Amino acid sequence: MRHLMSPLDFTTEELDRLFDLANDIENHPAKYAHTCDGRILATCFYEPSTRTRLSFESAMTRLGGRVIGFADATSSSAAKGESVSDTIRVISGYADICAMRHPKEGAPMVAAEKSGIPVINAGDGGHQHPTQTLTDLLTIRSLKGRLGDFTIGLCGDLKFGRTVHSLINALIRYENIRFVFISPEELRVPDYITDMLKEKEIPFQEVIRLENVMPQLDLLYMTRVQKERFFNEEDYVRLKDFYILNADKMSLAKEDMLVLHPLPRVNEISVEVDSDPRAVYFRQAKYGVYVRMALILTLLELVP
Ligand code: CP
Repeated sequence: MRHLMSPLDFTTEELDRLFDLANDIENHPAKYAHTCDGRILATCFYEPSTRTRLSFESAMTRLGGRVIGFADATSSSAAKGESVSDTIRVISGYADICAMRHPKEGAPMVAAEKSGIPVINAGDGGHQHPTQTLTDLLTIRSLKGRLGDFTIGLCGDLKFGRTVHSLINALIRYENIRFVFISPEELRVPDYITDMLKEKEIPFQEVIRLENVMPQLDLLYMTRVQKERFFNEEDYVRLKDFYILNADKMSLAKEDMLVLHPLPRVNEISVEVDSDPRAVYFRQAKYGVYVRMALILTLLELVP
């Protein structure tokens, strides 16, 4: 039995197979419409979500399976003090696979150790968000035609942003990637990541001003300053609108640069950017369904 805790749980060859499968699902959905007949996905979300939970539910439904679960810890027995270990033992008798989001880092891993069914980490605190990373990689591969040979700017909350940490970890396995980290001083990417990049001799640059680096980017990954990760309101208010990507800034970018964002967005991308063909964040959210369909089939060993 296999779980997904980190994007590194798959080799790059396995990821290629997963992305080929996701592209095939996108192009031939009818072929997969009954591959999960009789199977049940449990979505256990102890933290709010729109995309991750609903794209998992859409994915399982499109595969012919069914979905049970909860969208809020307060409506589950966690509110009475039940541990994730006990919860997953019970859910192992109710479902065939589980996607779990939890505010505590490592909680899905604790669940996986006691689980009788595959567990997918759907985001754990500020740690990892592997299915978002699979979505990001599939988007880049599908729209750029490659996973390597580019300069990627990551902008916003690089300190607490789990999508950023997961994506960096995944991208360092590909050739000729250069990172540009764009953040205020208080939200810099953690030292353990820059230390790891130095050790692996992967080029990176840290800057504060987005405008200064726009012309060199092939990809720009925007992120939200996450209110829920701040300890005090004052710091959040000071930093929340530090970056706003608008049409003026987009005019500095390459004609084929892509703008990605895991969403939800607050103010960091002006809505005027949405109509720019380089803005692909809504397409990215849709790729999330195809990659989760491919992931469910892979973990349940149901790939036709
Ligand atoms: N990208 C993402 O994880 O969105 P949700 O929080 O809405 O699931």
